[in-house]
Amino acid sequence: MALVVICGQPCSGKSMAALCLAEALKESESKDTVRIIDETLFHLDRNQSYANMTAEKNLRGVLRSEVDRSVSKDNIIIVDSLNSIKGYRYELWCLARATGIRYCVLYCDVEETHCRKWNEERQGKGEKGEVAYDDKIFEDLVRRFEKPDRRNRWDSPLFELWPHKNGIEKSSDAILDAVSYLTKKLDSKSRDVKILQPTIATQNTRFSEANSLYELDRATQEVTNAIVEAQSKALGGPLNGISLGQGLPNINISRSVGLPELRRLRRTFMKLTGQTSLSGRPPPSDADSAKRMFVDYLNRELDTTA
Ligand SMILES: *[C@@H]1O[C@H](CO)[C@@H](O)[C@H](O)[C@H]1NC(C)=O
Ligand SMILES: *[C@@H]1O[C@H](CO)[C@@H](O)[C@H](O)[C@H]1NC(C)=O
Ligand SMILES: *[C@@H]1O[C@H](CO)[C@@H](O)[C@H](O)[C@H]1NC(C)=O
Repeated sequence: MALVVICGQPCSGKSMAALCLAEALKESESKDTVRIIDETLFHLDRNQSYANMTAEKNLRGVLRSEVDRSVSKDNIIIVDSLNSIKGYRYELWCLARATGIRYCVLYCDVEETHCRKWNEERQGKGEKGEVAYDDKIFEDLVRRFEKPDRRNRWDSPLFELWPHKNGIEKSSDAILDAVSYLTKKLDSKSRDVKILQPTIATQNTRFSEANSLYELDRATQEVTNAIVEAQSKALGGPLNGISLGQGLPNINISRSVGLPELRRLRRTFMKLTGQTSLSGRPPPSDADSAKRMFVDYLNRELDTTA
């Protein structure tokens, strides 16, 4: 009945926050089962899981599949991982929408210097549940962190914790607010609670939505065409910075990508994005934002450099 995305820098208290939230939910009146999905579930070692982009992408894929398998109308799933990439949170949001459930983000807002100190304190201890990162990995993760922004649908509602200032407890304001949001009974007073609505697969496509999907289809096709064309011009040379026009991010791919792979990526993207298109608002709103999202998606999926 809900998906909660925990988000924060490495060593910012996320696992503690997830545990407190789970406890608080279990003590609430909600009858839903609560489950935490995290890296320990897969016995993944942090230094290895974040050793390079391939390993990291793999990790995200594993967690996302588990979320996909687990979300349902009668449980509350808490994803406890960095979830530090905006596009990734967006994908998790899409999964919640496809299931037609509530969604929220719980953010541990801790300054880098404190996270760094906590990481150093944990190093070499190997205490259960308090796992440290290698320094180099830690710095890289900190640098690439994309802070949640409540103006994004996929970062909203956003509940913020300040573990460094106030600690984390079952009774922390943000935890209580999240519990209240997640378990609130729906009545006339609960208009602020958003149940994400499922999608193309389960609903009839109305005209405007069909139109948006058509736009999405066309925009992604244009991007794919630009890549194919640039690749054929480059004759297998490196392809950094294929430009699609002003205001759009460059496409950065360090290897040649065949048409079947491009088609597959485009299909997956369409599937993920199509699920968001039936909220009554248009999906990525216009061709440019569709292109921007698709390029971000491609850059992430095709990036093999650290
Ligand atoms: C990435 O890291 C994993 C785990 O440490 C390792 O097995 C793999 O060989 C690495 N891949 C690259 C391309 O460095
Ligand atoms: C990762 O490496 C750091 C130092 O290199 C070490 O202190 C830490 O315990 C390692 N973490 C794991 C989970 O092995
Ligand atoms: C693409 O690569 C260039 C340098 O090759 C870099 O400056 C730019 O930030 C990269 N863009 C993206 C979206 O990764």
